[in-house]
Amino acid sequence: MLPGLFRNASRMYDCTSRVLQHYEALYRLVGIPEKEMMHSIMKNSKFELFLMKVVQQKVVTGLIPLLNHISKSNIEVDLQEVFKRFTFDNSCLMVLGFDPISLSVEFPKRTYEKAFDEIEEAILYRHIVPKWCWKLQRWLQIGQEKKLRKAWDAFDRFLNQRIASKREQLLSREKTHLEEAKFDLLTAYMMQEEIVNMGVCSKSNKILRDTAFNLIAAGSDTMGAGLARFFWLIATHPSVEMKILKEIKENLMVKDDKKEVGVFRTAVKADTLPSGHHISANTPIIISLYAMGRMEEIWGEDCIQYKPERWISEQGGLISVPSYKFTAFGGGPRSCLGKAMAFIQMKIVATSIIWNFHFEMVEGHPVSPSVSVVLHMKHGLKVRITKRSV
Ligand code: HEM
Repeated sequence: MLPGLFRNASRMYDCTSRVLQHYEALYRLVGIPEKEMMHSIMKNSKFELFLMKVVQQKVVTGLIPLLNHISKSNIEVDLQEVFKRFTFDNSCLMVLGFDPISLSVEFPKRTYEKAFDEIEEAILYRHIVPKWCWKLQRWLQIGQEKKLRKAWDAFDRFLNQRIASKREQLLSREKTHLEEAKFDLLTAYMMQEEIVNMGVCSKSNKILRDTAFNLIAAGSDTMGAGLARFFWLIATHPSVEMKILKEIKENLMVKDDKKEVGVFRTAVKADTLPSGHHISANTPIIISLYAMGRMEEIWGEDCIQYKPERWISEQGGLISVPSYKFTAFGGGPRSCLGKAMAFIQMKIVATSIIWNFHFEMVEGHPVSPSVSVVLHMKHGLKVRITKRSV
């Protein structure tokens, strides 16, 4: 049931086209071996273990204490904001080996986090207005482009600081630090590159910075939005919540009851789409994953229903669906590198949260999509939290 649930939930979010564009630029700049290097690091089983440790620790030391505090205080909370912070911290830990601790009772707003949100907003704007318009704004340094420049500088400063201290660690071979941080992506990337180049980590700060930015962008808002949507579905479908609880009890054998455990593409040459539409070379096409997840031709008559069972076979196994049908993680050679990571994170969070807490939507709170690259909720996800007593 659990894997099926996430697939249903993830039908609801779009990926950042910005990430893809940046990757295009990055690969053009450095060539395909960069991608292979990243592939080999992310597919390493030690990295998977590191990831599980990071997420579990963040759940135990950050998420659960925060939800405990909120449930005791009997206050409303925006769960979307909670998950946004949770996934931002996790991404920074995984990519940089650094915890910005944005998930805390005080809900601090640090310059670089604000910058991260502003960059996202401005990039979407670039996709909406005509090219000449944002280019003119960039040249004159006005409007969204001015905001983007400032935000970009702030986030770059944050990343450059992290890269500089990582380089220092690598150079001075601070073994203890490196042992701890060995598997964050930046360290792994720099160390692997050093092996390839016989002791010299020659990557420019710019490439390392762009790589780090892309990975943080790819892994934080997608996950945060996915978790918020998932918990919204759970809060509005109590029968599904009960089934998950049963599954946790049966499979995870928790002894102590209360133990806290818009993709967009550009045609290379003129082509005809399966729909019969002709497109000329260089035509950009936006594929709406949100719409595809609700099409009767693809998912059948009950396409609108939240029905995790559609992913489970009669024998209880997972039904495999081609990536061109279930497109949340993309398809083909450029599909999501973090898919396995995303599932690990989501399962850890869902089991530990559903086991300990129950969420109720604040009455009358509207859940509608915001205009953003990732499918956030416009007004957040306002809930009340109670601690489970059984
Ligand atoms: C629910 C969470 C996530 C969703 C829905 C998602 C979705 C996607 C999609 C749709 C693509 C484009 C695939 C294509 O063009 O065919 C993509 C690419 C990518 N994703 Fe994710 N992603 C998620 C989480 C993550 C995480 C946690 C990471 C880890 C850092 C990550 C890393 C990447 C990378 C590096 C790429 C670029 C791959 C390439 O160009 O070769 N993603 N993702």
